[in-house]
Amino acid sequence: TALNPDDAKRLAAARALDLVTPGMRLGLGTGTTAAHFVELLGLRVAQGLQVICVPTSERTRTQAQLFSIPLSTIEATPELDLTVDGADEFDPQLRLIKGGGGAHLREKIVAMASRRMVVITDSSKAVVTLGKFPLPVEVNVFGLEVTRRMILAAAKASGCDGEIRLRKTPSGHPFVSDNGHFIVDCFLGSIPDPNQLAARLVAIPGVVEHGLFIGIAKAVISAGPDGVEIFGE
Ligand code: A5P
Repeated sequence: TALNPDDAKRLAAARALDLVTPGMRLGLGTGTTAAHFVELLGLRVAQGLQVICVPTSERTRTQAQLFSIPLSTIEATPELDLTVDGADEFDPQLRLIKGGGGAHLREKIVAMASRRMVVITDSSKAVVTLGKFPLPVEVNVFGLEVTRRMILAAAKASGCDGEIRLRKTPSGHPFVSDNGHFIVDCFLGSIPDPNQLAARLVAIPGVVEHGLFIGIAKAVISAGPDGVEIFGE
């Protein structure tokens, strides 16, 4: 019997819950997969599990509050034990594309403040080469067109070809991140050298943060028709 993607996401989330021990300081990711983790964690908290959590978005904060999960801020809790988050793509080196939900700036700050970052996902996110999913880049509002052109040039110099578009909401307005910035989506098709592209993107002044996560995830818990697979440590 086939496992639908939502069941797979929940299965991966349930497996990640096994990594949580009492007293842990946790980073809570953003997205539909991370939402399963928050919900399952909320049930444990209701049973008496003591943890303190830092959410990676306003959306996740609202959800965690509904479950009465004790929350902190990254300012008050700058050292975390574990962050559990989803991803849009992961490759065999556990490099990720994140930011489909526009939360990758906070997600990266929280992940890097954590001793361990574990990705939960359904198996459809596994790729050999990153880039089929459009790479999100959070950009400053000032000089948007200049920044967009510089991102395009960086992509070209890194062997990528494609289009870079400002993310819009369904009503046609630019999407604004929790941090008050715009997001551009880079439709590149494939990214032959993610490390090189990442280095070029951080050198662009208007780039606030790109969605490539390199050397950050320690493990990926991936659920699919063949059950749960764990990549990494
Ligand atoms: C949020 O900005 C993203 O980084 C999410 O973690 C990513 O888009 C995965 O989302 P889903 O779990 O909904 O696929």
